[in-house]
This record gives sequence, structure tokens and C-alpha cells, in this order.
Amino acid sequence: MSAFVHRFEPATRPDTRPLLLLHGTGGNENDLVPLGRAVAPGAALLAPRGQVLERGMPRFFRRLAEGVFDEEDVRRRAHELADFIDDARARYRIAAPIALGYSNGANVAAALLLLRPEVLSDAILLRAMTPLASAQPPDLAGKSVLMISGAQDPIVPPPSAVRLADLLRRGGAAVDHRVLPVGHALSNVDLTLASQSLKATPAEADVPASVKG
Ligand code: MLT
Repeated sequence: MSAFVHRFEPATRPDTRPLLLLHGTGGNENDLVPLGRAVAPGAALLAPRGQVLERGMPRFFRRLAEGVFDEEDVRRRAHELADFIDDARARYRIAAPIALGYSNGANVAAALLLLRPEVLSDAILLRAMTPLASAQPPDLAGKSVLMISGAQDPIVPPPSAVRLADLLRRGGAAVDHRVLPVGHALSNVDLTLASQSLKATPAEADVPASVKG
């Protein structure tokens, strides 16, 4: 199994989709577990830790400056994360997860949607921006993406979030892009909107039949 440090909590309710929890810069595999439990009670939780260190802070890919991404690294790390998800699905026998990502975690989830969309069933992207400037939309038909941006977010330029929403829509995803009167930090409204969108997502039986590794 790939080398991601991660946390896995099995489902206590079989009718729920697993969540892939992707933390922000400086976070770890424990950060979003309370959020995951709150928005999807009983769901399996898979939470990897980003493998890039920026002055000791874990991230999912390198950046050259705030908001300026090393796109070669974005591509490489997104593929590594996608391979990890494939391995974890086989090992823990879980269906394709819904990504729940915040900040850098939302950006790597967006990169997964653009590069390896088959590893996710849907996504909730909190404070996301476009991770790849010149990406073409893959086939995202059948996927639902909830994007929640902050109108006063000092880190995510609003046009970059809008570009990402457009790109995902052009691939055929059903994108619900909400802009809240908040900054980069999460609010209770994020939690409410995320849980509402998850209640509307039925679980499907696509658990891998065989267990690898
Ligand atoms: C990033 O991926 O760099 C985020 O958008 C900002 C952050 O993680 O601080």
C-alpha cells in the first residue's frame, strides 16, 4: 500500500458513502475527522496526510508562492494520491469516496477530479481554487460537486474559484457553487451545506470484489 500516513475509520452505517478527508496546509490526518463525523454520521472515513512539507507543514503538493502552484508537482502528487485511494479501497473494501477537502485539500481534490476522476464519486470543495491553469475538463458526467467559497477570502481569488466551477461544469459535473460572506476559515454554514448535500447523495454498491495486497 502506498506510503501515505493515514487514518481509517470503518463505517458504522453501511448505507453511507465513504468520505475522503483532505486537510489544509499545516494539517494532518486527524484534522477533518470531527467535520467528517458531523456531516456524514456513520460513514467510513479515509484521511491521508499530505506528503509535501513546507517549512514543516504538511501539504498535498508544492507551491512556489501563496496561490502559485508547482503544476508538475500537482500532477505527480494527484496521481500518487489517486493510487493510494485505489489501494485503500481494495484494502478496506470501500466504495469510491466523496472527497471532502479544505483549502490545499480542496485543491488536490480538484486536481483528482481533473486528472483521475474515477477515484472519486463526488466532491465537496471548501475554499478551493483552480489547481491546474490549463487543464481540460475530463468526463465528469454523473458527479456532484459542492464548492463553497468565501467572499472575503484573502487566499483564494474569487475568479480562480469561478474558473474551477466552470471547468468542472464543462466536464459535465453538477456543480453547486456557493459564495458565503466569510473568509478562508470554515463556518457553521459550510457544515450545514455539506451535510445537506451528503444527505442528498445515495450510496451505491461499488465496493471492490477482491482485496489486493
Ligand atoms: C493552497 O493549496 O496553497 C491553498 O489554496 C492555500 C493554502 O493551502 O494555504
